[in-house]
Formats: sequence, C-alpha cells, structure tokens
Amino acid sequence: MDKVRLGVIGCGNMCKHHLTPLCENREVISEELHPYAERVEVHALADVSQEKADAFKDQYGGEYATTDPEKVFADKNVDCVIIATWHDTHAPLSLAALDAGKHVLIEKPMCMTEQECDDILAAVERTGLKYMPAFRCRFAKGARDLKREIPNPENTIAFARTGGIWPETIWAQDPIKGGGQILSQGCHIVDLMFYIAGSEPESVYATGGVFHHDSPEVIDTINASVRYTNGSVGAFLGGDGGTGNLMLHHPLACKCPFFVIATEKGKSGLAIDHGHDGRFEKGSAKDWTPPYEEKVYCEEMGADAAGGVPDILPHFARAIIEDETPIATEKDGARATRFILKCFESARTGNVIKF
Ligand SMILES: NC(=O)c1ccc[n+]([C@@H]2O[C@H](COP(=O)([O-])OP(=O)(O)OC[C@H]3O[C@@H](n4cnc5c(N)ncnc54)[C@H](O)[C@@H]3O)[C@@H](O)[C@H]2O)c1
Repeated sequence: MDKVRLGVIGCGNMCKHHLTPLCENREVISEELHPYAERVEVHALADVSQEKADAFKDQYGGEYATTDPEKVFADKNVDCVIIATWHDTHAPLSLAALDAGKHVLIEKPMCMTEQECDDILAAVERTGLKYMPAFRCRFAKGARDLKREIPNPENTIAFARTGGIWPETIWAQDPIKGGGQILSQGCHIVDLMFYIAGSEPESVYATGGVFHHDSPEVIDTINASVRYTNGSVGAFLGGDGGTGNLMLHHPLACKCPFFVIATEKGKSGLAIDHGHDGRFEKGSAKDWTPPYEEKVYCEEMGADAAGGVPDILPHFARAIIEDETPIATEKDGARATRFILKCFESARTGNVIKF
C-alpha cells in the first residue's frame, strides 16, 4: 500500500490536534514516523455540521465534505477512518466502519458499555482490520521512559483528578453523550496505569459517588484499590472536584496534574500530566542508574511533541502499511471502559468486583 487514504468522522476540536501536525507542522512528529506521516492523505470529511466539515476540507484538503458518515464508509477510495465524535456514537460508527472494511482509529473512550466492548471485540476479530483507540499517553515521552525503566512494577498508582469542576453544560458531562469526566478523561490515565502495570485487572474495590454535580447518574469521584492478575497492586484516584490544582507547579511542573507512579524493587518513576514529563528515584536498586531525576520534556521540545498526540495517526498508518499490531488495540479500549464501569459498580454496591 502506497498511501493510506483517510476518512475523517467528526471535524471538531480533537481532530484538529491529529490533522494539524500531519498537514501543517510535521516537525512535532517523531522522526521515525515521518515517512508514514507523508503517506497519509485526507480523502473525505464528515460531520453532522456541513459547515464544520467544509471548514476542515478548506484547511486539510480532501475530495469532499459531507454530513453522512455512511458515504465515507461506502467509499472504496477510503482505507481508514479516524472517528472523533461524541462518545455515544463511537461504538455504532466503529461497527459501521469495520463492517464496511475500513481500518479504524477511534478517539477515547472506545465505547461506553460492556455490550459495546463485546460488539467491537467481535467485529475486529471477524473483519481482521486494524483498530486502535487513540490512547495518547502511550506516545508521551515521560510515559515511554517509565515503561522502559520500570518494566515490572509491583505497585502502580494513577491519579486523574482535575482542577475545577466540569460544567454541567458540556456534552462530555452528559450521561448519554459523554459519561462524565472519569469515563471521558480519566480513561487516558486508566489506560496508562494498565500499560505501565503490564497486567490485566483481577479485582477492584472502589468508594466514590456524586459530590460535585447535579445529575445523580454521573459519578464524579472514584477512589479505587486495584489488584492485577500478575500479583502486583495499585490504586486509581479519579474525578473532578477541584482538588487537582493543588498538585500543580509544585510538586508537578505541568499544566495538568495527572500522573502515574510505579515502583519496582528499589526503583521508582513518575510520568506526569498525560505522560509528558518524567521523574525517577533510585532506592535500594543496585544495578540501575536512573536516566534522569527530572525531565520536563514540555519545556525541552514543547507540549505537542512531549505529549505524543502528533505521533498517533502516523503510527496507525505504519501499522496498516507494515501490517503491524498498533501500540493500543480494541482489547486495551475494552479494558479501560470495563475497569471504569466496574469502579462505578463497586462504589454503588460496596462490593469487590472481579474481572
Ligand atoms: N486525546 C485527548 O486528549 C482528547 C481531548 C479532547 C477530546 N478527545 C476526544 O475526542 C473526541 C471528540 O471530542 P472533541 O473535544 O473534539 O469534541 P467536539 O465537539 O469539538 O468535536 C466532535 C465533533 O463530532 C461531530 N459529531 C458528533 N456526532 C457525530 C456523528 N454521529 N457523525 C458525524 N459527526 C459527529 C460534532 O458535530 C463535532 O464537530 C471525543 O471522543 C473526546 O473524548 C480527546
């Protein structure tokens, strides 16, 4: 395959972050992915708003702009689609695209329910197409260092509490369209937690509830204790309620106070924000030299390159062209959604939930 011809579904905020580096400033893309960035060609653009689809076509090129994603799925000149729409449409659009024979890059969360997880896993298996949730933290520079330096942690802890409280009026806070901050945004850090732990969840016990919002349906606070199948343990603290900003600047030199911390036999490491920056500390480990004590990649290379979002689309293009497994798959997408749903179930019932 010479070119990967791309269909864009959802011409909003996040898609700009994927397409701008590809079409306008390739220098923020990692060097080794440049040959694949060059081979992605925007072919078709769809949004429920014709105006937004047209604006994207003006900015990023393409043959046509439409309000009908089905037209893009039916187009034999499209190899692959990126879906960056509201969360309740992720599963139906994914299934339609896969059934039409398109490789799919899906924004997070992959889907919102257990049934949707099952349906997507089955569709990927049935079609044999490439499917990747855009879990950006896996591409971030500090997170990559943490994965390399602490490959078998015995304790992996994730923090994803925001500064401020998400407004009731944004679509991501809507119980149907979005599912709230923990599913919408916490899923990044949940995915990074499992990626760093290198293991599946075995059980979770969570306390939590709705403390900052009007709607009783969307849990906004989760404090979860996690057991992984490889015998290691950890924790996830997620939600919105204003506590996150207490972590800003000191001790964390970052704009977003999220982190994942991991320890392994006298070594410990921290990936900060969505994995952008990193810190390491040597304890009793004998044969290990930390790569650095603190690295603020955001300052060295800028937040875009440090965060890794520009690498996502070229990485997926490489997976298609070279027939490789992408760094995140439908199994990772299903794990993150299921884990968060089980945290909610545990908080509601008071039970330890097994996977
Ligand atoms: N990776 C990240 O850091 C990050 C950050 C923000 C958002 N996101 C994710 O990106 C996705 C989009 O979020 P956003 O902030 O860009 O939202 P947005 O509202 O700016 O963009 C979504 C677009 O999808 C369109 N849309 C909705 N339903 C559609 C449908 N059925 N068919 C075609 N178009 C449809 C909307 O009109 C809108 O233009 C979400 O999954 C969100 O969680 C990821």
